[in-house]
Formats: sequence, structure tokens, C-alpha cells
Amino acid sequence: MRIVALNGSPRPEGNTAQVLREMTKEHADVDLDYYDLGRLNIKDCQGCYHCKRHENCVIQDDMQMLYRKIKEAQALVLGSPIYFGAETAPTKAFLDRMYAFLAPSEGPRKYVSRLKEKKKAIIVLTCGNVKGNEVYAHLKDRMYSAYGNLGFSDVHPYIIGGTSPAVNILELTDAQDMLRECREVLEE
Ligand SMILES: Cc1cc2nc3c(=O)[nH]c(=O)nc-3n(C[C@H](O)[C@H](O)[C@H](O)COP(=O)(O)O)c2cc1C
Repeated sequence: MRIVALNGSPRPEGNTAQVLREMTKEHADVDLDYYDLGRLNIKDCQGCYHCKRHENCVIQDDMQMLYRKIKEAQALVLGSPIYFGAETAPTKAFLDRMYAFLAPSEGPRKYVSRLKEKKKAIIVLTCGNVKGNEVYAHLKDRMYSAYGNLGFSDVHPYIIGGTSPAVNILELTDAQDMLRECREVLEE
């Protein structure tokens, strides 16, 4: 299985990176591409709608490489800390640029996905709030519909709350439950 794993935290060894690495490390036959989004050159979407007249994005940056990798992958594993109630800026820039995977349609839906194969998406948001799962439940809904609309057939959003520099995220029950579920998702 080909997996593209993207860390939206500016901390390459932070909480989010730890769960992403743990989730993707134990699989046999996995071809893993792991990137820190903030270390890539990903510009903001310009809203030029070039991708609605052509099958690609006009901006020549590292997103072109990610488009190719995501097309070839069977799973996207995306992680981001929650900053002021939302995903980080690089994580949002990445999502906005994924708009290029949507083609205009004459059918009942205005846009259809250009992604051909079935793909899984696991999205993990980490946050300091111990009640993060309740307080930020709307972010899970948003990720579910955004990545579902983009054409991911099997979308699994999670929130791991109660993180802090003093806590080992891998020892949190929510993180352990999430990792167990995600291993199954990636092995299916
Ligand atoms: C700028 C900033 C804003 C944050 N805003 C929130 C927030 O709104 N809610 C929350 O629960 N935690 C918030 N946090 C805490 C982080 O989401 C949390 O520590 C996260 O697990 C950090 O992930 P990382 O170690 O991968 O960078 C914030 C942290 C920073 C640095």
C-alpha cells in the first residue's frame, strides 16, 4: 500500500508527528512518503479557477509533487494541531490546493472528483483542550465532508485532546484507541 503522510505541525517531532509516525510505522508492504507540510513550498490557492478549465493547478510548487503522490497512493494520512480552533495554516493551504482534484460537472453535483482509485483518508487533529473531541467536533465534520467531497471514499477524522509538551501523546487513551482503529483501517 502506498501512503502519503503529511504533518501540518511546525514541530517535526511534536505530538502530531509522533502519532503519524506511530500509525504508519508497523505495516509490512507499505511504501510511505512522509512530509512536514511547513517544510514544503506550498503557496496559497489563488482562486484563479484554472483547475476548472484544465485538469491541473497552475502554481508550480511542491504541491505538484504531492498531486502525483496522492494520485498514486491508496491512503492519505494527514495530521495537524488545532491552532485557535482550526487546522494550521499549512494544513489549510494544502486543503485549498486540493481543489484542483475537483472537475466541473453537468450532473447533479457541481463538481466531481478527478481521483480515480478508491482512497482512504485518515485525519488526526491534536489539541491541548482535554475536551477537544467535543469542543472541536465540528472540525471532524468539516474534514469528513471536505475530504469526502474531494473523492476520498473512506474518511476517518479524529481529534486527540489533552496534549501538552509535558504529556507523551502516545500514552493518552484516545491516541491509543485511534492508533488501534487506524491500523485496522490501513490493513483492510
Ligand atoms: C499558536 C497555538 C494555538 C493553539 N490553539 C489551540 C486551540 O485553539 N485549542 C487547543 O485545544 N489547543 C491549542 N493549541 C495547542 C496545540 O493544538 C497542541 O499543543 C498540539 O498538540 C500541538 O501539536 P504539535 O506538538 O504537533 O505541534 C495551540 C497551540 C499553539 C502553538
